[in-house]
Amino acid sequence: MLKECLDGLSLVPGDVVLDATAGGGGHSEAILEKISPGGHLIAIDRDPEAAQRVKERLEGAGSEVVVVNDNFRNVDAVLESLGIEGVDGALFDLGVSSFQVDDAQKGFSFIREGPLDMRFDPGKGIPAADVVNTFRQEELADIIFEYGEERHSRRIAAAICDARRRTRISTTKDLAEIVARAAGARYKRYRLHPAARTFQALRIFVNDELDSVEDGVKKALSLLNHSGRICVISFHSLEDRIIKNIFRDASKEGLVKLVNKKPLVPAEEEMVLNPRSRSAKLRVAERTI
Ligand SMILES: C[S@@+](CC[C@H](N)C(=O)[O-])C[C@H]1O[C@@H](n2cnc3c(N)ncnc32)[C@H](O)[C@@H]1O
Repeated sequence: MLKECLDGLSLVPGDVVLDATAGGGGHSEAILEKISPGGHLIAIDRDPEAAQRVKERLEGAGSEVVVVNDNFRNVDAVLESLGIEGVDGALFDLGVSSFQVDDAQKGFSFIREGPLDMRFDPGKGIPAADVVNTFRQEELADIIFEYGEERHSRRIAAAICDARRRTRISTTKDLAEIVARAAGARYKRYRLHPAARTFQALRIFVNDELDSVEDGVKKALSLLNHSGRICVISFHSLEDRIIKNIFRDASKEGLVKLVNKKPLVPAEEEMVLNPRSRSAKLRVAERTI
């Protein structure tokens, strides 16, 4: 939804912009084209490899670019350390990048075999394997239900606990097979992989994603300059609900106006070219005071 984001941000040369989820740097690069000359881009990613990749991609890009490896929930401290008091635009393109899904070592993919890790930053927090092998069955079921909206969470948690009694579950393939055996038949009618919701749940839990989104987006709203715009792309209903509520409350307080009443969804051609975009929703708000 690159074009929709750029239209939503409504940037002009000289603007100061935050890309809170730099990823592969595609949006950052397009933003730079809009704000040059004289613009300033602050690009954040909590994955150190992503931050390094974007740094290399944007080197020599003309306008001033700073790439920071941090969680966007610390955006206030990041901007303060750079001496920036406000931004004219902020973008959050949530979730995982294709680089991360394709890198089996990160453990996000239920299709590629790799260590059961799932941390954006492998230096912080605990890997998914620790959760799966040590949490109590009820805790696992709650995580899978709450963050995966998986209706078969109890059956899946029971299967995980049964399997780990025999041997430690240490790879993505181990887990995907256990989940598929437990719930596969119930997924026959759907296009979704039986392990998709369980993997989503563990990833959200391991990275404390929902609290990060809540903190980061609220802070970004408070850091927007007058008429500055914020665009948030979410990929599942849990994230979208958080954004919807934050924007609704901020609009009731008179802090922002909603640029679109309903979230924008990708054009049909984009959905065909990039199936992952199917569940994307873009919400845009503009600071009014
Ligand atoms: C969908 S990708 C962004 C793709 C990017 N817009 C591009 O053009 O390539 C999401 C990125 O956000 C990062 N991310 C997720 N949660 C984050 C957080 N709380 N703080 C900072 N970065 C985060 C991920 O590491 C990932 O690289």
